Amino acid sequence: MSDSPSHHNQRKGFTVRPARTTDVRSIIEMAGPLVEKRLLVPKEAVAYYESIQEFLVAVDDDGTLIGFGALHVMWEDLGEVRTLATDGSWRGRGVGSALLRGLLERARSLGVQRVFCLTFEVEFFTRHGFSVMEEQSAVDPEVYAELLRSPDEGVAEFLDLARVKPNTLGNTRMILHFTD
Ligand SMILES: CC(C)(COP(=O)(O)OP(=O)(O)OC[C@H]1O[C@@H](n2cnc3c(N)ncnc32)[C@H](O)[C@@H]1OP(=O)(O)O)[C@@H](O)C(=O)NCCC(=O)NCCS
Repeated sequence: MSDSPSHHNQRKGFTVRPARTTDVRSIIEMAGPLVEKRLLVPKEAVAYYESIQEFLVAVDDDGTLIGFGALHVMWEDLGEVRTLATDGSWRGRGVGSALLRGLLERARSLGVQRVFCLTFEVEFFTRHGFSVMEEQSAVDPEVYAELLRSPDEGVAEFLDLARVKPNTLGNTRMILHFTD
């Protein structure tokens, strides 16, 4: 196969696959600046390892990490897409969409019917079927009480708890309902 740099640049492809432990260092490196800009929630390295099965990654033809995203299950019918990002130089080329489609596919196969996300990327998520969430309409009081027991920051954000409000300022709460 001809693999000159110019040829390579013309047809740069990417693959989405389940994350492996060896992706974590690159994920943390790529997430760093986004955490600093408060686009992603800060997380300890150990938290990335512990949640590795939640993650999909996108890699380029050389195997370099160019994107990642996770699906976190919260309840029988409820999940969250979190920590979704595409490397700056790859934005607008379908990587984020491919990751999100994969995560939504996972949600379906796990039995999750509604997927939450908290984001500044309202247009992107709207294009994928999400809509802006109405206040507290998503869970009944019993489930709310159960979710309160979770130590997970993302769950606290979903519940819109006061203690996480400083982190979520300016973000939009969005939700997708699978209808079929
Ligand atoms: C949100 C984010 C992951 C999107 O990643 P991306 O790889 O640029 O996403 P895509 O290329 O699939 O789509 C982006 C845009 O490019 C356009 N696009 C260009 N070429 C495309 C292609 N080949 N296929 C699909 N879309 C394409 C789409 O119309 C889309 O427009 P939209 O954002 O208005 O929907 C990325 O902007 C990001 O990393 N943001 C910072 C982190 C963040 O805020 N994450 C969300 C919090 S969970």
